[in-house]
Amino acid sequence: MAEIKIELTPEQLAILNGEKGETMAKIMKTLVMYGETFGATKMVPVTGKKGHLVTSFGIKVMKPVYELMDRLISDGVVSGQQFSVDPKPVDKNVPASFLENLIFKKFMYSAQDMYDGQLQKMGLVSDTAYTCTCYLDEVGNTPEKGDILSWAESSAVVYANSVLGARCNRNSGIIDLFGSIVGYVPYFGLLTDEGRKATWIVEVKTDKIPEAQVLGSAIGMKVMEDVPYVKGLDKWIGNELNDDAKAYLKDFGAATASNGAVGLYHIDGLTPEAVEMGEALISENAQVYVIDDAELERVKNNYPVIWKDKNAEPKLCFIGCPHLTYSQLIDWTEKVEAGLKAAGNSKVVIPTVFTAAPTVVEKFNKTAYAARLKKTGVILSYICPLMYMNNPLCGKKPVITNSNKLRTYTTSRYYTNSDILDCITKGVK
Ligand code: F3S
Repeated sequence: MAEIKIELTPEQLAILNGEKGETMAKIMKTLVMYGETFGATKMVPVTGKKGHLVTSFGIKVMKPVYELMDRLISDGVVSGQQFSVDPKPVDKNVPASFLENLIFKKFMYSAQDMYDGQLQKMGLVSDTAYTCTCYLDEVGNTPEKGDILSWAESSAVVYANSVLGARCNRNSGIIDLFGSIVGYVPYFGLLTDEGRKATWIVEVKTDKIPEAQVLGSAIGMKVMEDVPYVKGLDKWIGNELNDDAKAYLKDFGAATASNGAVGLYHIDGLTPEAVEMGEALISENAQVYVIDDAELERVKNNYPVIWKDKNAEPKLCFIGCPHLTYSQLIDWTEKVEAGLKAAGNSKVVIPTVFTAAPTVVEKFNKTAYAARLKKTGVILSYICPLMYMNNPLCGKKPVITNSNKLRTYTTSRYYTNSDILDCITKGVK
């Protein structure tokens, strides 16, 4: 290995020199090289109790990953900490044609069972830990403020950094696992105080509460990978991190992270570091972005519709990317019931799937709301809609969603929460 520029402790150096075996040395070397690429100065211990992996799907072409996992397992180099993982790609309850199912099973996720087995051997918490909202109470992978994490999954990283005040870079898949295995991550970017300073001030000057997913999209597209300090939003979502505010920030953050590459945002008067340090978090010469209702309309109207037939009747609707919280599930159930009643319909007019973490689904299913939701015709699932849409046949279908992440990465068409409610209860306007 060329000269190491990163400062290593004697223990880290010993790992690099093979004290814990050749495989562990290679993992350390990979992390050191990764850190050097980004100008890391040292390696710091992972202090979060659990990891989170982005690679949850047993897709056929990921052969090198399976070989790597086999090697790690056979060498006994498994994760030093337990981890959760992104959602599973397939659920038989989600509508799919015979051919679509064939593609899922034979050509896409044919390695799922084998990969699930590997994940378990590597340290997966349990079979219920497949979700991008691993930080929810029901899932139990909730980092503490200041914890250093080795996570990937952009929506979870931005939430952990911003809402929980943990520290994590926007890692790629496998790097997340390597950090969990060796217990160290390179110190750069969002792990540092300097990297957590805002280089953008966003002034929210709307006349109504901004749609979380459009506001996040506008900010993401403007600031890209920078850190924004958002003023004026607490007027709409309050100064307390309650269930509603957290759900809003979950959806907002996922849009900033996918429509741009935001890994951390501060909300004036609300998120932990902004409450603690206020405007001291803002860098000198920060740029300013003013957002009013007209700007949000402009952003929304510019989303391309890439359906072959732009006027096609939607064949499917996904709500829950990122996965819905328990409160959101209840809220959506009530809204769908009210919408159907107002429209004089008894069931949703477009096949609709709500997605949530397995343990959130389990909790919801124990309540009277489960039967009420079922009565509306809405299907409740634990999948990742993006992995469903990756099926080339599903990608050709006119699918609608209220997720700006799903819109960005697939052919699905975006509607705001209230418009999508109208679509599924009354029909497309
Ligand atoms: Fe989660 Fe899949 Fe959306 S991982 S954020 S449901 S793309």
